[in-house]
Amino acid sequence: MSALGAYVEHQRELGVLGFPRNPGPAPEAPRARTTSVEPTPGNLFVSPGLEATRNLEELRTHIGDCRRCKLAPHRTHLVFGVGSPRARLVFVGEAPGRDEDLQGEPFVGRAGQLLTEIITKGMKVRREDVYIANVIKCRPPDNRNPEPDEVASCEPFLLRQLELIGPEVVVALGKFAVQTLLRVKTPITQLRGRWYDYHGIKLMPTFHPAYLLRNPADKRLVWQDIQKVMLELGIGTGPR
Ligand code: URA
Repeated sequence: MSALGAYVEHQRELGVLGFPRNPGPAPEAPRARTTSVEPTPGNLFVSPGLEATRNLEELRTHIGDCRRCKLAPHRTHLVFGVGSPRARLVFVGEAPGRDEDLQGEPFVGRAGQLLTEIITKGMKVRREDVYIANVIKCRPPDNRNPEPDEVASCEPFLLRQLELIGPEVVVALGKFAVQTLLRVKTPITQLRGRWYDYHGIKLMPTFHPAYLLRNPADKRLVWQDIQKVMLELGIGTGPR
C-alpha cells in the first residue's frame, strides 16, 4: 500500500472527520487503487484519482480550483508549493500567510526571507534546489491555526506531493506543522533536533522562521538542527 493509501486507511480507523470509521468486515469487492475513500456526502476527502497523479503538474491540475474545505472562499491564491520536483530536501510550514496568499508562493514574506537565508547563506544551497510547501494550501482567515477538518482535506495533497518528489529529508517548521505531521502534542522545544519518521521519510522538526524573528537568540538552535540535516544529506561536509 502506498503512503497515501496507508494514511487514508489510518484516518478511517481513527474516525477522523471525512474518513468514516470502517463499519465492519472488509468489503468483498476489491477496492480501486485510485479511490481509497468512497465519495459520500459529508466525506471531505472526496478526491478520487489522487493516487493516479504521476507528477506535480498532474497533482496541481487534480487539486484544481479547490473547494474541498471552508478556507476556499477566503483565499486569493491556492499556494501549491515551489522548488525542484526532484528535491532531496523539502521544507514544510504551516499555511500561507498574507504575502503568500497574495503572491501564490510559500514563504515569501519576512519569515520567508529568513528561511531563504537559512537555505542559501546557511546551507549554501539554492532555494530552487529544495522544495517548499505547507501543511495547508490556503490561508486561514486572520492567520488562525488550521482546523482539523482543513488538515484532513489538505494533508493528503502534501503526502502525494512528497510521494512524487521523493525527498530524503523533510524539515518541519514550527509547532503546528511538527505536531500536525507527527500527530503529537509534545512541545516543539522537546521535539526539535531529533529525527522522526513521516511516512518513510526522515523528518527533522525545528523552530518556525517567524518564531526566530521574535526570538533571534534561538537561531543557533535552528542552525544545530540544520547542520544535522546537512550531515544526513552529505552537503557542506567536504570539498564542494
Ligand atoms: N508561514 C508558513 O508557515 N508558511 C508560509 O508559507 C508562510 C509563512
